[in-house]
Amino acid sequence: PRIVVLVSGEGSNFEAIAEAIERGDVVGRIVAVISNRPQARALARAGRHGLPTEVVDHTAYSGREAFDTALAMRIDAHGPDLVVLAGFMRILTPSFVDHYLGRMLNIHPSLLPAYPGLDTHARVLADGMARHGASVHFVTRELDGGPVVLQGAVRIGIDDTPARLAKRVQVIEHRLYPQAVAWFTSGRLHLSGHRAILDGIPL
Ligand code: GRF
Repeated sequence: PRIVVLVSGEGSNFEAIAEAIERGDVVGRIVAVISNRPQARALARAGRHGLPTEVVDHTAYSGREAFDTALAMRIDAHGPDLVVLAGFMRILTPSFVDHYLGRMLNIHPSLLPAYPGLDTHARVLADGMARHGASVHFVTRELDGGPVVLQGAVRIGIDDTPARLAKRVQVIEHRLYPQAVAWFTSGRLHLSGHRAILDGIPL
């Protein structure tokens, strides 16, 4: 299976997936790593793994529609079976999301459906929550609202800070995302209506 990864920043989740493929834990091939930010450190990480990179700089486009249209053309040129959002910090248009429905995954740093959106670590701490975590989900039109595929939780300590919490959540993310991608590329995971299905069982 052919995988296109979209990134904006650090790229640690992308790298976790790339390493899982290299180890043979995930079947598939990353055919392109595309960033909307030219400076994204993810691009250097991709280079170190010998993977092809591209930049589609959103600031060069007049609006969301124009950017998403250009991005979709670049993605589709690679004929992907799966599009992986790995820290891709752009809100996507409905037509873009619909085009990849059932073949686009995202990872979000919260136990969805709790805490969609930004600054999840600070918000969770401010609310005095006992647990936090990360979720892999199919991407649908609702922001961070698609069917959840896999989640992992961390306990929140009394002396936690957003930064410390973020670090622990990321450790979990780097285990979750390769697993979810492996399920998808091996044909075990798919989207049916608004349910994620694993081995024929609704999650
Ligand atoms: C992750 O925490 C992910 O949940 C969120 O953005 C962050 C990306 O980190 N969507 P990285 O770029 O993969 O290191």
